Amino acid sequence: MPEMDGLLTTAYLVAAVLFILSLGGLSNQESARRGNTFGILGMVVAVVATLAHPKIAVLDQAMIGYPLILGGVILGGVVGIILALRVQMTSMPQLVAMLHSFVGLAAVLVGFSTFLAMDGSHAAEVADGHEAAAAATTAATAITGEHIVHVIEIFLDVIIGAITFTGSVIAWLKLDGKLSGKPLLLPGRHVLNILMVLATVGLIVPMFIVPELGVYFLLVATIIAAILGAHLVMAIGGADMPVVVSLLNSYSGWTAAAAGFMLENDLLIVTGALVGSSGAILSVIMCRAMNRSIWNVVFGGFGTGKSTGPARVVEGEMTEIETDALVEVLDDAKSVIIVPGYGMAVAQAQQAVHTFTRTLRDRGVDVRFAIHPVAGRLPGHMNVLLAEAGVPYDIVLELEEINDDFSKTDVVFIIGANDIVNPDALDDPHSPIAGMPVLHAWEAKHTIVLKRGRGKGYAGIVNPLFLREKTRMYFGDARDSMETLNAALKSREKAA
Ligand code: TAP
Repeated sequence: MPEMDGLLTTAYLVAAVLFILSLGGLSNQESARRGNTFGILGMVVAVVATLAHPKIAVLDQAMIGYPLILGGVILGGVVGIILALRVQMTSMPQLVAMLHSFVGLAAVLVGFSTFLAMDGSHAAEVADGHEAAAAATTAATAITGEHIVHVIEIFLDVIIGAITFTGSVIAWLKLDGKLSGKPLLLPGRHVLNILMVLATVGLIVPMFIVPELGVYFLLVATIIAAILGAHLVMAIGGADMPVVVSLLNSYSGWTAAAAGFMLENDLLIVTGALVGSSGAILSVIMCRAMNRSIWNVVFGGFGTGKSTGPARVVEGEMTEIETDALVEVLDDAKSVIIVPGYGMAVAQAQQAVHTFTRTLRDRGVDVRFAIHPVAGRLPGHMNVLLAEAGVPYDIVLELEEINDDFSKTDVVFIIGANDIVNPDALDDPHSPIAGMPVLHAWEAKHTIVLKRGRGKGYAGIVNPLFLREKTRMYFGDARDSMETLNAALKSREKAA
């Protein structure tokens, strides 16, 4: 059916263009909603076109096409809706890691079924008594380049899928606190990894030499790749999990691309490559933001070999500030930089922060936001919350755009942030976050910190900024504190 093929190709092309437009849109806050819409449209086109695929129509004659797909869509849809309704914004990285594991598992299952179907057609010929045809098939499949390429496609799909599956499961367990965030550093782990890679890749050779045992070699290779995936992620410390999640996102894309080659599905190839490359680019950006080497993340044990001595002990007292005194500090301020962090997300304080911003701007104060690339718990976490609250985009600046301005600022307002403003990243070479670029909040005239108490940040270390002479702590849940402050500013205005 050449017309059908032409229609499918056109639909896949349209979907691919929509996915590219979607990614382009998502790279900027102002166009993110449009980007999302393009993505949804692209997915609808892709799903409808795939359902109309002649291979599915053939399957449907045996009643295993559409009913099976519908059953899967309903089951998956229900589970997805429940998960999406229940998940907290702060648990998104865990959810994303879990979703990547599904992509990996699907790739493994599809790879095996494709391999078995390929083998099965040969077995059917034997069962039918057509030994000569079967022998001819074996001889032909054993030597044709097409067969070799197809087996390599299946092999790549299954192996990358297995690494993605177990790596993502371990990342999910670590992020969810079900496994310790401490890196597992086995002696000789790099040699072990190399041996596992060699053993996995090497197993493709006997698949061609003894094709009748092919599925067993594939199975052993899958098990080794699964152990490799788990071991690579076990070797990575909790503080570095964000990069790992983004890297697993990239792996899941490459797995999908390999599946696309295997299933001869152009859209899957394009979409997989888009996910794979954008995940890889994001991983590199995050590595730069945390001053880590991407190769250390890829090969595990990352962020663990740098600091050879113990981190320095930080001692001192925190100085509190009361609401009235804080209002007075703000009365004199001409410029304010707000640094939001994970605590703002936990407290859901973004709306109150927006009200605060409006009040100050109405007074003529220059208010800007400083966003660290790994603030919160997922890329763009703070941008999403601030956009949701309606904070204008043009006052939300990235680290490199604003870091030189702290020294010219009257008040810096740190709301539930900790690691991203820790000066020890620059001052202590033995700190676990040594070398990570941080926001220079301590350079402002006044540093105000909103947090509940003496809790540590994600990296689990003391932040000496909170003990400095210029720093004042405004203790409490970030939302409650912001609402109290907003009320105090309002009553001050009424009184004036
Ligand atoms: P953190 O360093 O995690 O510090 C958050 C602070 O918020 C804590 O010290 C906590 O102190 C305070 N807090 C918690 N709940 C609060 C509430 N209800 N009200 C007020 N304060 C509250 O956050 P950060 O500065 O945003 O740094 C992010 C960290 O997470 C980095 O280490 C980064 O590497 C890591 N990480 C980032 C990502 C991505 S991609 N963004 C993903 C995973 C991990 P109290 O307990 O005293 O209140």
